[in-house]
Formats: sequence, structure tokens, C-alpha cells
Amino acid sequence: AAKNTSEDVRGAGDELHQRSGGDSPPLTTAHGVPVEDDQNSLRAGDRGPTLLEDAHFREKIFHFDHERIPERVVHARGYGAHGVFEAYESLADITRASVFAQAGKKTEVFVRFSTVAGNLGSFDLARDVRGFATKFYTDEGNWDLVGNNIPVFFIQDALKFPDLVHSVKEEPDRGFPQAQSAHDTFWDFASLMPESTHMTLWQMSDRAIPRSFRTMQGFGVHTFRFVTAEGKSSFVKFHWTPLQGMQSVVWDEAVKINGADPDFHRRDLYDAIESGDFPQWELGVQVFDDDFADSFDFDVLDATKIIPEEVLPVRPIGRMTLDRTVTNVFAETEQVAFMTQNVPPGIDFSDDPLLQGRNFSYLDTQLKRLGSTNFSQLPVNAPRCPVAHFQRDGHMQTSLQPGRATYEPNSFSGAERGPREAGAEGHVPVPERVEGTTRRIRSESFADHYSQARQFWVSQTPVEQDHIVAAYVFELGKCEVEAIRSRMVANLRNVDEELAGRVAKGLALDLPEASPAAVETRTDLDPSPALSILANA
Ligand code: HEM
Repeated sequence: AAKNTSEDVRGAGDELHQRSGGDSPPLTTAHGVPVEDDQNSLRAGDRGPTLLEDAHFREKIFHFDHERIPERVVHARGYGAHGVFEAYESLADITRASVFAQAGKKTEVFVRFSTVAGNLGSFDLARDVRGFATKFYTDEGNWDLVGNNIPVFFIQDALKFPDLVHSVKEEPDRGFPQAQSAHDTFWDFASLMPESTHMTLWQMSDRAIPRSFRTMQGFGVHTFRFVTAEGKSSFVKFHWTPLQGMQSVVWDEAVKINGADPDFHRRDLYDAIESGDFPQWELGVQVFDDDFADSFDFDVLDATKIIPEEVLPVRPIGRMTLDRTVTNVFAETEQVAFMTQNVPPGIDFSDDPLLQGRNFSYLDTQLKRLGSTNFSQLPVNAPRCPVAHFQRDGHMQTSLQPGRATYEPNSFSGAERGPREAGAEGHVPVPERVEGTTRRIRSESFADHYSQARQFWVSQTPVEQDHIVAAYVFELGKCEVEAIRSRMVANLRNVDEELAGRVAKGLALDLPEASPAAVETRTDLDPSPALSILANA
């Protein structure tokens, strides 16, 4: 690269020019025309006005003026890396997905980790959920597993997602706070939405302040479907386990790290990969059939519930290694477009109403954010397998797809004819049984909001329980409205009396009546050691 040496300097003030030559190719306009002078705009006379004729000046300023695109409406702050996924064995008996076709099969991936609530320029160690989104470039199309580091979610129905996000984003009349859990509005919403109680326990636990992206788990959250070549389907839940082990920080450390280095997590991932210490995660699945789903204590379509590993063990099926940082953060990490609806043959959706809503949302948001229907042609989004369709034109079309007829049926042949549907070789939707009349009433099988929250609480070690209590006290302590604090404690009484009592004491609140619960909390669910970080450290 050109250095600012004394030879570059031809004079004082605006006479500084670094010329092309040696390692430095000529500076050009975006259209390739070599630029004479990048220090001075073209002016009339010595001190005269700038001339419209200066195409280089106009192009440079025009491009700069358009540099920003909208940040993601959620998960704005993230960091990505490239890698490879390697299957441990053939899963042909449970899925025809080519990524799992045989032992040792390798598939390229791109992963983006993120926080949820903060804006693009917020800090890394926020108490927040972390996104864990993986794009598998499979040879039958992209598979986007767009998950989080927490296996449950705040809400059961995607219709409530805008409300949830409005409650965690900065308040519109003041523009703060950016931290998800430091809000009157967030706790107001959470306390009025008992279904979020389970997730808030995870969020108040050490899980929400991971030491590193490299030391956190990832989850697909929803129940998905695996489908074999013969069309036999089973339910599946996806788990990523870090081979570095699980680690979090304590809140005091998080606060200091945020002050000293708001880029701590991105720097950590970058440094690890650049130094050859490639992080790895094992992908595991819980696979089950309709009989298991019917016999399970909770609805497998309810994203506020887990299937405990002690009830249904996680089967390891492959390993992901992140081994390459991006070349350009904007072009790759920012322009990557994850969409839950990207599933290849062999993987399908369940009827989880949160997943169904997401499948609508992501296409819409990518168009808004990336601005062109052709965003799938960006290198980070482009499949690594052949792409052939009759979509054409649109803003920023770069594909030189051959062919004359861009419709079918057509009667042309050869290169003019174009592709044809794949039939049973294509992605065949699982034939789900559908019955009943249309309605807006939530299924009663979604009604128990507290039993698994309690199970999470009793699965934590005493020190982890202390952290949870401290987090509720600290975060709820920031609520200005006492009724909100009190309502949250009233919910916690349905989870565990000791937890509620300790939080109330920490907040110097009189213990409120327990909030009404549709279903009595079950106390017979065994602790699940897999839910504790310390038990797995
Ligand atoms: C972004 C996960 C629920 C809408 C993301 C990202 C992740 C994620 C990881 C960031 C992707 C990236 O790094 O580029 C989840 C999980 C959910 C969930 C695990 C529940 C289980 C929802 C719901 C909706 C939604 C219910 C809407 C109905 C969005 C939108 C973005 C996003 C609009 C921004 C996408 C972009 O601009 O690239 N989500 N999400 N999410 N999510 Fe979700």
C-alpha cells in the first residue's frame, strides 16, 4: 500500500499528493476512469465556485451520501464468520437433507452472532439474548437455521412480535434505554404476558451475558421436521454445543468490559480465528415422532417450551468449524440475509405459530433492508449450487442467466428452453394433518406458562440462582413504575415462592398476591442438569 513518505509530499497545504505506481494502482472513478487529483475539486479560477463538471467530486459525494442502509429492525449488532460443517454419519434414515447425506460430508457455512435489542453501535456485553444464525450452503439450496443462544422464546405467536420488540427497543419519547432488560416498557410487557416468564428466567441467568460467542450454545428453538426420501417425517429440535465449553461472565465483569471494550465479543471472535484457534460447535438433534409429541407434557409447537435432554437425549450429528473471518464486514456480515423459510429438501416446518409468522417476516424485511428483490445474488447470500428460475429483471440484476423463454410451459428446446419443476426430487412440503374451523383462540395446550420456568429455576446451582435473583432485582430496580415491579414478582410467585420472596426483598416490596394462572404450576418436573452452565462447565 502507498505510504505517506516525504517523496509523496510535493509542497505544503493542499499540495499533498500520493501518486500511483509500485504497489498502488491508479485511483479510478466507479466507472474505471483514472482520477488526476483527489485533493481538490474543480473550481472556477483561484477561489471560485465548484463546477458541476467535476464528475469525480459528484460521484464520490453521491456514493458517500448513500452509504448507510437501514440496520436490522432487531439483531442489528452482529458479527459473522465463514466456516465448514462436517456430518458425523449418514442420516438418510431420518432425513434426505444432502448436508447429512454421508459421514464426512462437508458443507460451507456462514454464521452471524448478534445481540437482539441494541442498535448497530451498541455494546457487546449487554444482558440480552444472542442470535446464532447459520447459513448452510448445501448442494440442494441454502438452509438458514436462524436460532438464538436460548432455547425458548418470549412469545408463542408471531402476531405479538412487534409488541415485544417495541417494548425492548429504546422508548420513543426519550430514545433510551438501549439495554433490553433495563426498561419500564419491557417489564410492563413481560409482566402482562405470563408466557414470557420462562424466557425471562433464562434472560436473567448467566446465559444472557456470555463470555464469548465461542462459549455459548445455540438452538433452533422451534420444532422442525426431518423428511426422508420416502416421505417419512419426524419432528426435530436443533442444538449447537460449543466445543470450547460454556462460559459466561458475571454482571460486574460485563459492566467493566462494556466500558473498556464495547467490541469485546467481535474482537474475541476475530482474534481467535485470525490466530488459527478456530471455534467449533457440535450440532445435535432431538428427533421424535407424533407419539412422543402426543405423550409429551407440553405442546411441541409452543416455542416457550423445551424438551429436556434428560427426557429425550441430544444426538450429535456433526461439527461446525469457523475458520475464516470476512473480507468485508458490510458486504458479508451486514448484507447476509437469513430467512427461516430457506430450507432444503429433507427439512421442513412444523405448525409452530411463531415459526409460521417468521417465515412471512424475513423475506419482507430483507427487501426493505437490502433494497432489491435480487438480494439473493449478493455473494454471501448466493447459493453454491446451480440456480435456475424464471424470475427476471428488478433492481440490481447481475445474473446473466441464459435462455429465451422466461415462462413455462414453453415449447422451446435446448438453451432457450429453461428449467422445469423437479417433482418428487424437489422440496415437497410435509403433508400435515389440518382440521377444525378458523379461529383466533390459542390452544389450551399452550396454557401452562410457569411449570418449565420453575424447572429451569430448580435446575440451576445455588450460585446461578443467586445471579438470577440479583439480575431481577437490578433490572426491575430500574423500573420507575412500582406496579410493574410488583406485577412481575406476582408472576414469579407462580414459578417459585423462594425466588419471588428473594426478589421482593431485594426490591423492598411487600410480597404481592400471586398472579392468576390458567394452569397450576407443576412441582413434579425433575431438575434438568443440562440447563445449568456450571453443571456443564
Ligand atoms: C432477525 C432469531 C422470532 C423477525 C433475527 C436474527 C436472529 C433471529 C438470529 C438475526 C439474523 C442475522 O444475524 O442476520 C429469532 C428467533 C426467534 C425470532 C430465534 C424466535 C424463536 C422472530 C419473529 C419475527 C422475527 C417472531 C417476526 C414475526 C425478525 C426480523 C429480523 C430478525 C425482521 C431482522 C432480519 C434482517 O434484517 O436481516 N431473528 N427471531 N423474528 N428477526 Fe427473528
